[in-house]
Order: sequence, then C-alpha cells, then structure tokens
Amino acid sequence: MITGTTRVVGIIADPVAQVRSPQVMNAYFAKHGIDAIMVPMHVPPDGVSSVLAAARQLRNLAGLIVTVPHKTRVLEFCDDVCEQARLVGAANAIRRTAEGQLVCDMFDGQGFLGGLLANGIDPRGQKVLLLGAGGAASAIAFALAARGASALTIANRTQEKARALATRVASAFPACRVQDGPPDPKGFDLVVNGTSLGLKKEDPIPVDPKLLEPTMTVAEVIMKPERTALIEAAASKGCRVHLGRHMLEAQVRLLAEFLGVAPEGA
Ligand SMILES: NC(=O)c1ccc[n+]([C@@H]2O[C@H](COP(=O)([O-])OP(=O)(O)OC[C@H]3O[C@@H](n4cnc5c(N)ncnc54)[C@H](OP(=O)(O)O)[C@@H]3O)[C@@H](O)[C@H]2O)c1
Repeated sequence: MITGTTRVVGIIADPVAQVRSPQVMNAYFAKHGIDAIMVPMHVPPDGVSSVLAAARQLRNLAGLIVTVPHKTRVLEFCDDVCEQARLVGAANAIRRTAEGQLVCDMFDGQGFLGGLLANGIDPRGQKVLLLGAGGAASAIAFALAARGASALTIANRTQEKARALATRVASAFPACRVQDGPPDPKGFDLVVNGTSLGLKKEDPIPVDPKLLEPTMTVAEVIMKPERTALIEAAASKGCRVHLGRHMLEAQVRLLAEFLGVAPEGA
C-alpha cells in the first residue's frame, strides 16, 4: 500500500522498459515490510540535469538508481562522489540526503562479483576476457582486478575506451595483467559480456561462439532476456553459464542500505 509516508526511489534510464530493478526492489520492500516503492522514470540524456535539480526538492525521495545511458553523466551533478564511483568514473545509485544533497556511488562491480561468488565462481587467479568498456563493464573490470584475477583483457567496439579503461585498471591494480585486445576467448577461463549486446533479438553475439570451449565460464550482464543468444550458445558448447540477474540480485541489499531503505539491522 502506498501512503503519504512511503519513501520513493526512482530508476532513471532511456529507454526504461527493459529495467528489472523495480520488480526486484519492490519485491524486496514487500518481503521486508519496508515503506518504500521503486518507480521507473524515463529520462532522456538532455533531461538529466533538470531531473536531478528537481530531486533535491523531493523530500520523500530516498534516491535514484541510475542506468543506461546516464551512469557517467550523473557524476557532474552530484555533491559527493563516493570512492568506487570515482575510481570507475560512473555511478549507479544516488542518495538524497535530508538536506537535499546528492551523493552517488557505484555498486555494479560489487554486484557482479557478489553474484559470481554466490554461485561458486571465484575469479581470483583466473584469466578474464571482458567485452565492453561502458559503465557496467568498467565497474566489473575494477571489481575483477580487485578480487585478484590474474589477467584481464578488455575488448570493446570503441577500442580507445578499452585501452583507456585497461590503463586505469592496471594503474589501480598492478598485480593484474590488464590490456585491451580482440574479443577472442581462446585461453581465457571466464568470458564476461559487459556490453548491451543481447538486449535486442537482432543483436550480434559479442564473441564468436565457435571459439568457446567447455572449460570456460561465460557470464552475462543482460537481464532481459534472461537467457541471451550468448548464454544459449555458450551452454550448447558445454560452458558453465552465469546469468545477468545474479548481478542485480547481489546488489539489492547494498543498494537498499545505501539509499536508507533497508530493513532495520540489515
Ligand atoms: N545485471 C545487472 O545488474 C546490470 C547492471 C548494470 C547494467 N546492466 C546491463 O549492462 C549493459 C551495459 O550497460 P552500461 O551501463 O555499461 O551501458 P553503456 O555505458 O552505454 O555501455 C554500453 C557498452 O556496450 C557496447 N555496445 C553497445 N552497442 C554496441 C554494438 N552495437 N556493438 C558493439 N558494442 C556495443 C558499448 O561499446 P562502445 O563503447 O563502443 O559504445 C559499451 O561498451 C546494459 O544492457 C544493462 O542493462 C546489467
């Protein structure tokens, strides 16, 4: 039941129809009896600054979840950028303080890693091929290197972005051999799709499935469809597969705590 005391959390995205956070977060609020609701907010890129200015005035707004394509852009409109968001250069959550200040942080990396670990997959010591160099992939790159992946190759359509990300991750985590490279999975233990390829039916598969081997784990960030063409191809090649929803599931509690809408004592 939404009442006058209900705290509001928005999710800003463009497009917004594909997001799964409202289902997952509202189920979490209901399960724990939290007087909060998450609603989708379709915000185009040129609307971000005015929406965030308005957010400062909304006293019952706990905060916003931020997704495609706003994760990088929101940093410039926040009063405080937490450490992980600063490292990654992107944020996926903004908390509104009681004084109307906006504080952002990035949980995609922790969520992705938490999802892997919860399913018994530990990237420590593994060679990882990461596809993508956008907001989600950047967070994942830092999280995998921080966990102790032995090598990380980043492949991206826009190669300069992969190179720039590789340089930043290598400088933060010198023990991990980080470089940019082609999307060739040969020799890797873990292949991660961190691009948005797979959202649409007509999207190409971001690696050549013929090159996948049964020793590999193939992980996805896409949540809708739950099983992308990459996941289906990897499963048919005998790879272990890991779905995009695990990344969000592992983030729910972290996001609720950050936004101040977690159960007491969580
Ligand atoms: N499971 C979860 O909890 C979770 C959390 C966050 C995000 N996600 C999903 O992760 C995906 C990426 O999100 P994001 O925030 O990182 O987006 P983003 O910052 O816009 O990055 C998109 C990435 O996909 C690549 N890409 C897009 N279209 C492409 C194409 N046609 N061919 C080749 N590469 C293409 C981009 O390459 P360029 O750099 O060359 O443009 C970039 O690397 C989204 O689908 C989102 O739904 C899932």
